[in-house]
Amino acid sequence: MKNPIVAPSVLAADFANLQRDIEMINESQADWFHVDIMDGVFVPNISFGMPVLEAISKHAKKTIDVHLMIVDPDRYIKTFADLGANRLTVHYEACVHLHRTLQVIKAEGMKTGVALNPHTPVSLLEDSIMDIDLVCLMSVNPGFGGQSFIEHTYTKIAKLKEIISRNGAPTLIEIDGGVNSGNAKKLLDAGADVLVAGNFVFRSENPAETIALLKAVTV
Ligand code: DX5
Ligand code: ZN
Repeated sequence: MKNPIVAPSVLAADFANLQRDIEMINESQADWFHVDIMDGVFVPNISFGMPVLEAISKHAKKTIDVHLMIVDPDRYIKTFADLGANRLTVHYEACVHLHRTLQVIKAEGMKTGVALNPHTPVSLLEDSIMDIDLVCLMSVNPGFGGQSFIEHTYTKIAKLKEIISRNGAPTLIEIDGGVNSGNAKKLLDAGADVLVAGNFVFRSENPAETIALLKAVTV
């Protein structure tokens, strides 16, 4: 039996009550904090930057899973390590020298992650999979929370799972965008390991219970 790793997306938190929302995650059954950094260039939105991540790190008692939606992420790898990121995910589409980027993330003591936009084929990771601790499959176009889930994601999970198994890679599959209790089981059945959820958690009446609901999904 397997349960998902549940990673609430802080992007959907109430920033006027950020400490309260961080404590809620600390005390909930959530496994990770998912932290979305957007630069307004790689994606058409700006979320927040270093000072906010620093504030999150100060209070978070769980793994910090940083998702960089920025161009030229190499410039900031060390900064994110220093700010407390435990896992650092860069976008395939933003990395000209992905192999080098992954080596630097490892050298900074973080777990490596590569995110793929909905249109980017998983086959492009065939030759890097052994260096990737986590593949983040975007199930919406990155940039905003609260969008609806793209159904083609299931096909990508199956293809990625095949690459991971064939290579004997330890890579986790994370699904990011439009995750809710209606698709969580199907995602887990297809091979997902990590479920990111923003609006589904924070717009619910009882976020901690909603996290528990996702955590209870089994395969
Ligand atoms: C989208 C972000 C997601 C987002 C998910 O660009 O990477 O992490 O916060 O939000 P929901 O779960 O609301 O789709
Ligand atoms: Zn994200």
